[in-house]
Amino acid sequence: MTDSAGLSPLPAAGRTVLIAGATSAAGIAVASALAEAGAKVVAVGSNASRLDAVRGAVPDAATYVCDLASFDAVAELAATIHAEHGTIDGLIHLVGGWRGGGGLAGQTDEDWDVLHRNIVTTLRNTTRAFNADLLASVAGRLAIVSSVSVEKPTPGGANYAAAKAAAETWTRAVGQGFAKAESAAAAVVFVVRALEGLEAELAEHVVGLWDAEAASVNNTRVRLGA
Ligand SMILES: NC(=O)c1ccc[n+]([C@@H]2O[C@H](COP(=O)([O-])OP(=O)(O)OC[C@H]3O[C@@H](n4cnc5c(N)ncnc54)[C@H](OP(=O)(O)O)[C@@H]3O)[C@@H](O)[C@H]2O)c1
Repeated sequence: MTDSAGLSPLPAAGRTVLIAGATSAAGIAVASALAEAGAKVVAVGSNASRLDAVRGAVPDAATYVCDLASFDAVAELAATIHAEHGTIDGLIHLVGGWRGGGGLAGQTDEDWDVLHRNIVTTLRNTTRAFNADLLASVAGRLAIVSSVSVEKPTPGGANYAAAKAAAETWTRAVGQGFAKAESAAAAVVFVVRALEGLEAELAEHVVGLWDAEAASVNNTRVRLGA
């Protein structure tokens, strides 16, 4: 449902939004923008002291320490969040990391394991644990941040690009589920070359996810910093 200007009547204000991997500069920018827009921010990271910095920037944020690579830990986190804040309306997945170099010969198993765990496993875990929330929400939103390297992979970044491609595919599958259920939820892939300097733009786009009708943004790939 939209108003006469085509805007969603359900903006970010009043939504409960979980930021998975909230302690980087991008995470803090997104948390700050969502809180300013009137959303309830639930910030998750694996490191308690780094979460203190999120609370420093966003005093109203609820923060939780969780290893998002463990599905059992994420299921426990979901139960705690449901008990303390109810269901969520948004999941902004920001857990990332980069490893690479050395051409194809340099694409080590160890690097692949780290990238797969951070980029793919944490996304699978959080979306599986919170999919029902997003489907049931009056305005559910899922977003990830991917990379231009998915379209133009290099041998030295093959592990990274392959993990990001998998994350994009997983996200589109979630979005397809949203559409099939005729829900008011949408999944969006933001794409950057490098995130440094684009934190504010990302934050603005995340808040803007709630300004558009779900069907018009679901399964879109949105380039930032172009
Ligand atoms: N940086 C770039 O130039 C760039 C380029 C293209 C795409 N991206 C993507 O943009 C997104 C955000 O990038 P970023 O550089 O801000 O991300 P990041 O620093 O790699 O990750 C965000 C946060 O995730 C947390 N984290 C890591 N492992 C975790 C785990 N197992 N459980 C819970 N939290 C965990 C870390 O905080 P704790 O240490 O506190 O847990 C970290 O601060 C990522 O998806 C990234 O791949 C970034």
